[in-house]
Amino acid sequence: MGQGSGFGKTILFGEHFVVYGLPALASAIGDKTLCTVEKIENTGYILNDDRPEIPGYKEKKFDEQKVSIQNVINFIGIDLEKQGLKITLGGNLVCASGVGASAASCVALARALNDEFNLGWNDDKINEAAYEGEKGYHGTPSGIDNTASTFGGLVYFIRNLESGPNTMETLKLDKPISMVIASSGMTANTSVVVADVRKKKEENPEWFEEIVKEYNEVVKQGREALENMNLDHLGKLMNKNHELLQKVTVSNETLDKMVNIARDAGALGAKVTGTGRGGNINVLTPDPATQDKVYQALKDAGYAAWKTLIGV
Ligand code: MEV
Repeated sequence: MGQGSGFGKTILFGEHFVVYGLPALASAIGDKTLCTVEKIENTGYILNDDRPEIPGYKEKKFDEQKVSIQNVINFIGIDLEKQGLKITLGGNLVCASGVGASAASCVALARALNDEFNLGWNDDKINEAAYEGEKGYHGTPSGIDNTASTFGGLVYFIRNLESGPNTMETLKLDKPISMVIASSGMTANTSVVVADVRKKKEENPEWFEEIVKEYNEVVKQGREALENMNLDHLGKLMNKNHELLQKVTVSNETLDKMVNIARDAGALGAKVTGTGRGGNINVLTPDPATQDKVYQALKDAGYAAWKTLIGV
């Protein structure tokens, strides 16, 4: 039996902007998707998807998941007509939009196949296989999710818009930062939301260019604030990034309400993370006591929430 795992992730700066080659910062979170693969007598594959989920997530993503699994299997070069497989997904990463659930399952599957078929692939190759899998969920992924999910840690990422490798740097923090992630309970469709932002950008390039200018400053200062552990400033920049995501129409009433609950409970900053129009917010907290308060405030308001550390 082959086994593999992939980290969940949270984007601190740059969802959507990363698609257009702008820098972004993402961090793996501790929760993971696990995968096992076993050879079976029959052809084709059987899938047991035991991952915990926000209600409705797996059903909504099922058709995309089938394309994704096939993409990974094709990239790895397994002929399911000759060798059938049983694929089992599990782990403690709760599947929701925004937490990198699709990327984590692609990475876990690629690693499990690598293990089962003794391919000896390194992380770069696993990342490439997972990127092919990500295309099943959204035709033109930037690659940030599978990169954070494969390599872990805190990742500064720039998508290469030409052919050639993306830029990827792993940042080290002086000490871990406490965060809260909370789910709106709504599952977003990444390809639809990304395509919609692209349409708005193409319809009004000057408007988008102004937002990009502001975003470039946010991510530049965001990286500095992280490296200097200036959490107050980091939080303000996350709030600013949220404003820019509102402008490109990927926030909504629920996400704005959640962000305000978190800020009122003492968060230094809070924003949409990932695709938006549903999915998750992420929240920067200065210390574990405030992390508890923010977590509780979001839970009391009826949202699923998780405490996490980044930069570990
Ligand atoms: C989704 O987690 C992040 C997006 O920027 C899409 C992508 O980077 O491929 C919305």
